Amino acid sequence: MNSHFNFLAPFYDRAIPFKRLEQTLKVLDLPHAGSLLDAGGGTGRVADALRPHVGSLVVADVSLGMLAQARQKGLTAASVESERLPFPAESFDRVLMVDALHHVVHQGETVRELFRVLKPGGRLVIEEPDLRTFAVKLIAVAEKIALMRSHFLSPPQIASLLPPAARVKVEAEEHTAWVIAEK
Ligand SMILES: C[S@@+](CC[C@H](N)C(=O)[O-])C[C@H]1O[C@@H](n2cnc3c(N)ncnc32)[C@H](O)[C@@H]1O
Repeated sequence: MNSHFNFLAPFYDRAIPFKRLEQTLKVLDLPHAGSLLDAGGGTGRVADALRPHVGSLVVADVSLGMLAQARQKGLTAASVESERLPFPAESFDRVLMVDALHHVVHQGETVRELFRVLKPGGRLVIEEPDLRTFAVKLIAVAEKIALMRSHFLSPPQIASLLPPAARVKVEAEEHTAWVIAEK
């Protein structure tokens, strides 16, 4: 999977341009003068667009190829597994994961880690293709056939991985869902 994204990295932003700035600002409750972690943040495609709306920003990912693209944009990039984030608890005001959870091997550990590093009063947003829609069900099957080892969860399944202390809501539009957790 890592080599898959290393291969895609130079073409990624052109293949999948980021088009959801307004929606992303809204679900993240930005602008904010504090810190944001973009976990599984890849090339920094999303982080680059969020940069003017937040005080500081870290892109964390396992793919060195993807992170190299983020560094070329002048973003702070950390080589990190989302299952074991090397940050103290309560480090970030906002935590984001876009289109990455279905690629992560240990999803429960990842969601718990994302919430652990969130500051009290902060907000975690997990954006995923909405598995409750027919189109995304088809994509999930296609990715299985292509042996991409992705594993899609529905928004309620993602929400169920969060600790009981999380105040969770789900927003959805077309084929995308945002699981939003406040601490
Ligand atoms: C489809 S890309 C999305 C990248 C970025 N969030 C975006 O929307 O442009 C998925 C990313 O998740 C990363 N990833 C997969 N498993 C991961 C893990 N366990 N920890 C951190 N990143 C991971 C991949 O390397 C890849 O960059």
